[in-house]
Amino acid sequence: MSLRKLIYLVILGLFAAGCTANPAVLNTHSMVAEREASLFRLLFYMGIGVFVLVAAILLTSIIRDHRRHGDNTEPKQVQGNTRLEIIWTAIPILLVLFIFIITVQTMTAVAAPPPAASDLKVTVIGHRWWWEFDYPDLGIKTANDLHIPAGVNVQIKLTSADVIHSFWVPNLSGKTDVIPGQNNTMWLKADQAGTYVGQCAEFCGLQHANMRLNVIAQSTADFDAWAAAQKQLPAAPQTALEQQGQKLVTQGICSGCHAIDGTNMKGAIGPNLTHLYSRTVFAGGVLPLTDQNLALWLKNPNDVKPGNLMANVRTSDQQIEAIIAYLKTLK
Ligand code: CUA
Repeated sequence: MSLRKLIYLVILGLFAAGCTANPAVLNTHSMVAEREASLFRLLFYMGIGVFVLVAAILLTSIIRDHRRHGDNTEPKQVQGNTRLEIIWTAIPILLVLFIFIITVQTMTAVAAPPPAASDLKVTVIGHRWWWEFDYPDLGIKTANDLHIPAGVNVQIKLTSADVIHSFWVPNLSGKTDVIPGQNNTMWLKADQAGTYVGQCAEFCGLQHANMRLNVIAQSTADFDAWAAAQKQLPAAPQTALEQQGQKLVTQGICSGCHAIDGTNMKGAIGPNLTHLYSRTVFAGGVLPLTDQNLALWLKNPNDVKPGNLMANVRTSDQQIEAIIAYLKTLK
Protein backbone atom coordinates (compact mmCIF):
# COMPACT_ATOMS: atom_id res chain seq x y z
CA MET A 1 0.00 0.00 0.00
CA SER A 2 1.36 3.40 -0.93
CA LEU A 3 1.82 6.03 1.77
CA ARG A 4 -0.81 8.25 0.16
CA LYS A 5 -3.39 5.42 0.23
CA LEU A 6 -2.57 4.78 3.89
CA ILE A 7 -3.10 8.45 4.76
CA TYR A 8 -6.47 8.49 2.93
CA LEU A 9 -7.48 5.34 4.81
CA VAL A 10 -6.55 6.86 8.20
CA ILE A 11 -8.50 10.07 7.41
CA LEU A 12 -11.50 8.01 6.26
CA GLY A 13 -11.28 5.95 9.46
CA LEU A 14 -11.26 9.09 11.60
CA PHE A 15 -14.40 10.41 9.86
CA ALA A 16 -16.16 7.03 10.06
CA ALA A 17 -15.33 6.78 13.77
CA GLY A 18 -17.60 9.76 14.42
CA CYS A 19 -20.61 8.10 12.76
CA THR A 20 -21.55 5.36 15.21
CA ALA A 21 -22.07 5.32 18.96
CA ASN A 22 -18.65 4.31 20.16
CA PRO A 23 -17.58 3.35 23.68
CA ALA A 24 -14.71 5.89 23.82
CA VAL A 25 -14.09 7.71 27.12
CA LEU A 26 -14.32 11.11 25.42
CA ASN A 27 -17.77 10.28 23.99
CA THR A 28 -19.58 11.14 27.22
CA HIS A 29 -23.21 10.41 28.13
CA SER A 30 -23.23 11.16 31.86
CA MET A 31 -22.13 13.86 34.29
CA VAL A 32 -19.40 11.58 35.73
CA ALA A 33 -17.95 10.72 32.31
CA GLU A 34 -18.08 14.41 31.28
CA ARG A 35 -16.24 15.58 34.42
CA GLU A 36 -13.58 12.90 33.99
CA ALA A 37 -13.18 13.72 30.28
CA SER A 38 -12.89 17.46 31.08
CA LEU A 39 -10.13 16.76 33.59
CA PHE A 40 -8.34 14.61 31.01
CA ARG A 41 -8.63 17.30 28.31
CA LEU A 42 -7.30 20.02 30.65
CA LEU A 43 -4.31 17.86 31.69
CA PHE A 44 -3.69 16.95 28.04
CA TYR A 45 -3.58 20.59 26.93
CA MET A 46 -1.38 21.53 29.90
CA GLY A 47 0.98 18.72 28.88
CA ILE A 48 1.06 20.04 25.30
CA GLY A 49 1.82 23.55 26.67
CA VAL A 50 4.76 22.27 28.75
CA PHE A 51 6.05 20.21 25.82
CA VAL A 52 5.92 23.15 23.39
CA LEU A 53 7.64 25.47 25.90
CA VAL A 54 10.45 23.00 26.71
CA ALA A 55 10.90 22.07 23.02
CA ALA A 56 11.06 25.78 22.07
CA ILE A 57 13.74 26.53 24.69
CA LEU A 58 15.70 23.45 23.63
CA LEU A 59 15.51 24.30 19.92
CA THR A 60 16.46 27.93 20.58
CA SER A 61 19.63 26.94 22.42
CA ILE A 62 20.50 24.30 19.80
CA ILE A 63 20.11 26.75 16.91
CA ARG A 64 21.38 29.95 18.58
CA ASP A 65 24.23 28.48 20.61
CA HIS A 66 25.60 25.71 18.38
CA ARG A 67 29.36 25.82 17.91
CA ARG A 68 30.36 27.77 14.83
CA HIS A 69 33.43 27.14 12.65
CA GLY A 70 36.61 28.45 14.28
CA ASP A 71 34.74 29.77 17.32
CA ASN A 72 36.04 28.23 20.54
CA THR A 73 34.33 30.56 23.04
CA GLU A 74 31.68 29.13 25.32
CA PRO A 75 28.12 30.53 25.14
CA LYS A 76 26.87 32.41 28.20
CA GLN A 77 26.47 29.92 31.11
CA VAL A 78 23.41 29.91 33.36
CA GLN A 79 24.72 27.59 36.12
CA GLY A 80 24.17 28.98 39.63
CA ASN A 81 21.63 31.56 38.45
CA THR A 82 19.42 31.87 41.55
CA ARG A 83 16.53 33.59 39.81
CA LEU A 84 16.32 30.87 37.10
CA GLU A 85 16.57 28.09 39.72
CA ILE A 86 13.66 29.62 41.65
CA ILE A 87 11.54 30.03 38.50
CA TRP A 88 11.99 26.47 37.24
CA THR A 89 11.34 25.03 40.69
CA ALA A 90 8.29 27.20 41.37
CA ILE A 91 6.51 26.65 38.03
CA PRO A 92 6.32 22.81 38.31
CA ILE A 93 5.26 23.09 41.98
CA LEU A 94 2.44 25.47 41.04
CA LEU A 95 1.40 23.23 38.13
CA VAL A 96 1.28 20.12 40.36
CA LEU A 97 -0.61 22.05 43.04
CA PHE A 98 -3.14 23.19 40.41
CA ILE A 99 -3.53 19.61 39.13
CA PHE A 100 -4.04 18.42 42.72
CA ILE A 101 -6.78 20.97 43.34
CA ILE A 102 -8.73 20.31 40.12
CA THR A 103 -8.37 16.53 40.66
CA VAL A 104 -9.83 16.74 44.17
CA GLN A 105 -12.61 18.97 42.81
CA THR A 106 -13.43 16.37 40.14
CA MET A 107 -13.30 13.51 42.67
CA THR A 108 -15.78 15.35 44.91
CA ALA A 109 -18.09 16.12 41.98
CA VAL A 110 -18.24 12.49 40.75
CA ALA A 111 -18.53 10.87 44.22
CA ALA A 112 -21.64 8.73 44.77
CA PRO A 113 -24.62 10.82 45.85
CA PRO A 114 -26.18 9.82 49.21
CA PRO A 115 -28.63 6.90 48.82
CA ALA A 116 -32.21 7.93 48.12
CA ALA A 117 -35.49 6.01 47.89
CA SER A 118 -35.68 6.77 44.16
CA ASP A 119 -32.35 5.01 43.44
CA LEU A 120 -32.21 1.73 41.57
CA LYS A 121 -30.06 -0.88 43.34
CA VAL A 122 -28.14 -3.42 41.26
CA THR A 123 -25.64 -6.08 42.29
CA VAL A 124 -23.10 -6.79 39.57
CA ILE A 125 -21.37 -10.17 39.79
CA GLY A 126 -18.36 -10.86 37.57
CA HIS A 127 -18.00 -14.42 36.25
CA ARG A 128 -15.47 -15.91 33.86
CA TRP A 129 -16.55 -14.59 31.35
CA TRP A 130 -19.92 -12.92 31.63
CA TRP A 131 -21.76 -10.41 33.78
CA GLU A 132 -24.61 -11.23 36.15
CA PHE A 133 -26.98 -8.42 37.12
CA ASP A 134 -29.24 -8.90 40.16
CA TYR A 135 -31.90 -6.37 41.14
CA PRO A 136 -32.42 -7.20 44.84
CA ASP A 137 -35.46 -4.93 45.31
CA LEU A 138 -37.15 -6.16 42.13
CA GLY A 139 -36.27 -9.87 42.42
CA ILE A 140 -34.80 -9.93 38.91
CA LYS A 141 -31.68 -11.78 37.76
CA THR A 142 -30.32 -11.25 34.28
CA ALA A 143 -27.04 -11.34 32.37
CA ASN A 144 -24.92 -9.22 30.02
CA ASP A 145 -27.71 -6.64 29.33
CA LEU A 146 -27.96 -4.17 32.23
CA HIS A 147 -31.31 -2.37 31.97
CA ILE A 148 -31.50 0.95 33.80
CA PRO A 149 -33.89 3.91 33.69
CA ALA A 150 -32.24 7.02 32.20
CA GLY A 151 -31.93 10.00 34.53
CA VAL A 152 -32.10 7.82 37.67
CA ASN A 153 -29.19 7.22 40.04
CA VAL A 154 -28.16 3.56 39.98
CA GLN A 155 -26.33 2.40 43.11
CA ILE A 156 -24.17 -0.59 42.18
CA LYS A 157 -22.62 -3.21 44.44
CA LEU A 158 -19.83 -5.18 42.76
CA THR A 159 -18.56 -8.63 43.60
CA SER A 160 -17.03 -11.60 41.80
CA ALA A 161 -17.74 -15.32 41.67
CA ASP A 162 -14.16 -16.22 40.79
CA VAL A 163 -11.25 -13.88 39.97
CA ILE A 164 -10.76 -10.10 39.89
CA HIS A 165 -12.64 -8.34 37.10
CA SER A 166 -13.25 -4.63 36.50
CA PHE A 167 -16.59 -3.07 35.58
CA TRP A 168 -16.26 -0.38 32.95
CA VAL A 169 -18.79 1.47 30.82
CA PRO A 170 -16.62 4.24 29.28
CA ASN A 171 -19.52 6.45 28.09
CA LEU A 172 -20.93 6.59 31.62
CA SER A 173 -18.20 6.18 34.23
CA GLY A 174 -14.69 5.15 35.19
CA LYS A 175 -13.58 1.63 36.11
CA THR A 176 -14.24 -0.11 39.43
CA ASP A 177 -12.61 -3.40 40.41
CA VAL A 178 -14.84 -6.43 40.96
CA ILE A 179 -13.14 -8.50 43.65
CA PRO A 180 -14.17 -11.91 45.08
CA GLY A 181 -15.11 -11.71 48.77
CA GLN A 182 -15.40 -7.94 48.68
CA ASN A 183 -18.28 -5.58 47.97
CA ASN A 184 -17.05 -2.57 46.03
CA THR A 185 -19.55 0.13 45.18
CA MET A 186 -20.02 2.62 42.37
CA TRP A 187 -22.89 4.54 40.81
CA LEU A 188 -24.16 5.36 37.34
CA LYS A 189 -26.62 7.77 35.80
CA ALA A 190 -27.20 7.86 32.05
CA ASP A 191 -28.33 11.29 30.81
CA GLN A 192 -30.45 9.90 27.97
CA ALA A 193 -31.90 6.60 26.83
CA GLY A 194 -29.47 4.60 24.71
CA THR A 195 -27.26 1.53 24.62
CA TYR A 196 -23.78 1.93 26.06
CA VAL A 197 -21.15 -0.75 25.58
CA GLY A 198 -19.10 -1.93 28.57
CA GLN A 199 -16.08 -4.16 28.90
CA CYS A 200 -14.20 -5.99 31.64
CA ALA A 201 -11.08 -3.90 32.28
CA GLU A 202 -8.97 -6.23 34.42
CA PHE A 203 -7.18 -9.20 32.86
CA CYS A 204 -9.15 -12.22 34.08
CA GLY A 205 -8.01 -15.05 31.84
CA LEU A 206 -8.33 -16.38 28.32
CA GLN A 207 -11.60 -14.63 27.36
CA HIS A 208 -11.01 -11.36 29.25
CA ALA A 209 -11.40 -9.35 26.04
CA ASN A 210 -14.70 -11.15 25.36
CA MET A 211 -16.30 -10.17 28.67
CA ARG A 212 -18.59 -7.42 27.47
CA LEU A 213 -21.92 -5.96 28.47
CA ASN A 214 -24.56 -3.55 27.26
CA VAL A 215 -26.04 -0.90 29.50
CA ILE A 216 -29.54 -0.36 28.10
CA ALA A 217 -30.82 2.95 29.46
CA GLN A 218 -34.56 3.37 28.91
CA SER A 219 -37.32 5.83 29.72
CA THR A 220 -38.82 5.13 33.15
CA ALA A 221 -42.01 3.77 31.50
CA ASP A 222 -40.02 1.38 29.26
CA PHE A 223 -37.88 0.27 32.19
CA ASP A 224 -40.95 -0.41 34.36
CA ALA A 225 -42.52 -2.43 31.53
CA TRP A 226 -39.29 -4.45 31.15
CA ALA A 227 -39.09 -5.07 34.92
CA ALA A 228 -42.75 -6.15 35.06
CA ALA A 229 -42.19 -8.65 32.23
CA GLN A 230 -39.05 -10.01 33.94
CA LYS A 231 -41.02 -10.70 37.11
CA GLN A 232 -43.58 -12.87 35.26
CA LEU A 233 -43.00 -16.57 34.82
CA PRO A 234 -42.60 -17.44 31.13
CA ALA A 235 -45.60 -19.11 29.47
CA ALA A 236 -45.59 -22.93 29.37
CA PRO A 237 -44.27 -24.43 26.11
CA GLN A 238 -47.06 -25.31 23.66
CA THR A 239 -45.79 -27.26 20.64
CA ALA A 240 -44.40 -30.79 20.76
CA LEU A 241 -40.99 -29.46 19.72
CA GLU A 242 -40.98 -26.88 22.55
CA GLN A 243 -42.01 -29.53 25.05
CA GLN A 244 -39.28 -31.88 23.83
CA GLY A 245 -36.81 -29.00 24.28
CA GLN A 246 -38.06 -28.28 27.78
CA LYS A 247 -37.53 -31.92 28.74
CA LEU A 248 -33.99 -31.89 27.31
CA VAL A 249 -33.09 -28.69 29.16
CA THR A 250 -34.74 -29.29 32.53
CA GLN A 251 -33.88 -32.99 32.76
CA GLY A 252 -30.45 -32.76 31.15
CA ILE A 253 -27.16 -31.44 32.46
CA CYS A 254 -28.24 -27.81 31.92
CA SER A 255 -29.81 -27.76 35.41
CA GLY A 256 -26.41 -28.25 37.02
CA CYS A 257 -25.41 -24.70 36.09
CA HIS A 258 -28.49 -22.73 34.99
CA ALA A 259 -31.69 -21.65 36.70
CA ILE A 260 -35.12 -21.19 35.11
CA ASP A 261 -37.79 -19.86 37.45
CA GLY A 262 -40.87 -22.08 37.63
CA THR A 263 -38.85 -25.24 36.90
CA ASN A 264 -36.61 -27.54 38.92
CA MET A 265 -33.55 -25.68 37.60
CA LYS A 266 -31.73 -23.80 40.37
CA GLY A 267 -28.10 -23.75 39.16
CA ALA A 268 -26.11 -20.59 39.84
CA ILE A 269 -22.88 -21.18 37.90
CA GLY A 270 -24.14 -20.00 34.50
CA PRO A 271 -26.59 -17.22 33.60
CA ASN A 272 -30.22 -17.42 34.80
CA LEU A 273 -32.18 -18.36 31.65
CA THR A 274 -35.72 -17.44 32.81
CA HIS A 275 -36.02 -14.61 30.27
CA LEU A 276 -33.12 -15.51 27.97
CA TYR A 277 -34.86 -14.38 24.78
CA SER A 278 -35.51 -10.89 26.16
CA ARG A 279 -31.75 -10.26 25.92
CA THR A 280 -29.89 -8.77 22.97
CA VAL A 281 -26.69 -10.76 23.48
CA PHE A 282 -25.33 -13.89 25.16
CA ALA A 283 -21.97 -15.61 25.79
CA GLY A 284 -20.60 -12.68 27.78
CA GLY A 285 -22.00 -10.08 25.39
CA VAL A 286 -19.99 -11.45 22.45
CA LEU A 287 -22.79 -12.93 20.32
CA PRO A 288 -26.06 -11.26 19.31
CA LEU A 289 -28.87 -13.51 20.53
CA THR A 290 -30.13 -15.20 17.34
CA ASP A 291 -31.27 -18.78 16.70
CA GLN A 292 -28.26 -19.37 14.42
CA ASN A 293 -25.75 -18.11 17.00
CA LEU A 294 -27.38 -20.14 19.76
CA ALA A 295 -27.29 -23.29 17.58
CA LEU A 296 -23.59 -22.67 16.92
CA TRP A 297 -23.00 -22.17 20.65
CA LEU A 298 -24.91 -25.31 21.72
CA LYS A 299 -23.04 -27.43 19.15
CA ASN A 300 -19.84 -26.78 21.11
CA PRO A 301 -19.45 -23.65 23.27
CA ASN A 302 -15.68 -24.06 23.34
CA ASP A 303 -15.45 -23.74 19.56
CA VAL A 304 -17.06 -20.31 19.82
CA LYS A 305 -15.38 -19.07 23.00
CA PRO A 306 -12.43 -21.32 23.96
CA GLY A 307 -11.91 -21.77 27.70
CA ASN A 308 -15.46 -20.94 28.79
CA LEU A 309 -17.00 -23.14 31.47
CA MET A 310 -20.08 -24.35 29.58
CA ALA A 311 -19.96 -28.07 28.89
CA ASN A 312 -20.35 -29.50 25.41
CA VAL A 313 -23.85 -30.97 25.72
CA ARG A 314 -23.26 -33.31 22.72
CA THR A 315 -26.75 -33.13 21.32
CA SER A 316 -27.96 -33.92 17.81
CA ASP A 317 -29.05 -31.18 15.41
CA GLN A 318 -32.68 -32.21 15.98
CA GLN A 319 -32.25 -31.89 19.76
CA ILE A 320 -30.61 -28.49 19.37
CA GLU A 321 -33.59 -27.38 17.27
CA ALA A 322 -35.93 -28.52 20.07
CA ILE A 323 -33.82 -26.82 22.78
CA ILE A 324 -33.87 -23.53 20.87
CA ALA A 325 -37.63 -23.84 20.29
CA TYR A 326 -38.03 -24.14 24.08
CA LEU A 327 -35.54 -21.38 24.92
CA LYS A 328 -37.45 -19.04 22.57
CA THR A 329 -40.47 -19.38 24.89
CA LEU A 330 -38.35 -17.86 27.67
CA LYS A 331 -39.09 -14.27 26.70
CU1 CUA B 1 -13.29 -10.22 33.53
CU2 CUA B 1 -11.36 -9.36 32.41
